[in-house]
Amino acid sequence: MAIALGIETSCDETAAAVVSSSGEVLSDVVHSQIALHAPFGGVVPEIAARDHALSLRPVVERALRDAKLGLQDVDGIAVTNRPGLAGALLVGLVFAKGVAWARSRPIVGVDHLVAHLLAVFLRREGASAAPLYPFVGLLVSGGHTAIYRVGGPLHSQIQELGATRDDAAGEAFDKVAKMLGLGYPGGPLVDRLAQTGDPSQAGIDLPSAMNERANLEMSFSGLKSAMARHVEQRGVPTGSALNHLCAAFQLNIVSTLVKKTIRASEDEGIPRIVIGGGVAANAGLRAHMREAAAKRGIEVYIPPLASCTDNAAMIAYAGALRLERGERDDLSLAPATKTALLRVTRKGGGKRS
Ligand code: KG4
Ligand code: ZN
Repeated sequence: MAIALGIETSCDETAAAVVSSSGEVLSDVVHSQIALHAPFGGVVPEIAARDHALSLRPVVERALRDAKLGLQDVDGIAVTNRPGLAGALLVGLVFAKGVAWARSRPIVGVDHLVAHLLAVFLRREGASAAPLYPFVGLLVSGGHTAIYRVGGPLHSQIQELGATRDDAAGEAFDKVAKMLGLGYPGGPLVDRLAQTGDPSQAGIDLPSAMNERANLEMSFSGLKSAMARHVEQRGVPTGSALNHLCAAFQLNIVSTLVKKTIRASEDEGIPRIVIGGGVAANAGLRAHMREAAAKRGIEVYIPPLASCTDNAAMIAYAGALRLERGERDDLSLAPATKTALLRVTRKGGGKRS
C-alpha cells in the first residue's frame, strides 16, 4: 500500500488531499475560486493562476493537518500535470517539485482525466461499492466529454471510444446559462430550473441529427446555436417558460450522453457504466442513465458529488497507485494542456483517425 499527498490546480479549484492506494481518503481540501471568476461569466486563466499561488500553501498544510501526517509520512507527492490551463497547472507543479526537491520525496505526475475516471474507487462517505474492471466510463466536465473503455488504472488500459467533436457538455451548460442570464457556473442553475420544467412546453425544436448517428461521437455546438437563436428571436423567457426551456435543453444533452454511453456498453459487451466529472452531478443525467441502464441489465456507478467535481483526492489516489507500482517521475516533469490519453475523435469535425 502507498499513501500520496495529491495536489490539483488545473482549473479553478485549488485542492490538496491525502489518499491511500486502497482509496481511503485521509483528508480532502478544496478551495473554490468560483466567486473570483463569476463576475466574468467564466474562468479567467490569469486570475486562476494567481489565486492558486496565494492559496496552495495553506490548502496543502490543511490537508496534511487533517490527515494527521507530515511530509515524511507520505510515500510521495502526486500532482496534476495535464490537461488544464498552462499557468494554473504550473503553479501546482512547481510547488510540488519544490517540496519534493527540498524534502527528498518522490513525485509522480497525474493526468486529470485518468483521475476523474478512477474517482469512483475513492472510499468516502456516500460512496457505494466500487465497480470491477473493465467498465465503460463517461467523463463529463466543463472541459471534457468523452466515453472510455477502462480496463485498469494504467494509461495503456484506458481507451477512448468516442468524444465530443466540439463543446464539452459542461461548457454547453455554462454558455447557455450565460445566455439566459442565470450566472456562473451554469450547470447547477439550469439543473435546478429544469427539475420543474416540461420540455414539451418549451416551444423549441432542438437539433439531434449528429447525435442520432450510430457512432460514439457527440456534438453540442448546434444545440448551443439553436438556443442562442431562440433567445435572440424571442428574448429570455421568464417564469415557468424559463424552466421549460432549461428542461428542453437539458433533456437534449442528457439524451445524447445516455444514448451514446449505453451504446458503448453494448458494443463493448461491458455491463458496467461509471460516470465522472462535474456534470455527473446533474439530476437529469443520473436519473436517465439509471433508468436506461436498468432496462438493459447494465450496472451504473455514480460517485458522490465530492468525487465528481474537481478535487485532489482523485489525484492522490491515481498517484498512490503509481507510487505503489514503484513508478517515479523526476524534477523535469512538465505541464501539458492536453491529456496523454489517446484520442480517437478529432475536434472540429475532422475525420476519425
Ligand atoms: O469536473 P468539473 O468540476 O471541472 C472540470 O474539470 O471542468 O466540472 C465543472 C462543470 C461545469 O461546466 C459545471 O457547470 C458543470 O460541471 N456542472 C453541472 C452540474 N454541476 C456542475 N452541469 C450540469 N448539472 C449540474 N448539476
Ligand atoms: Zn475536472
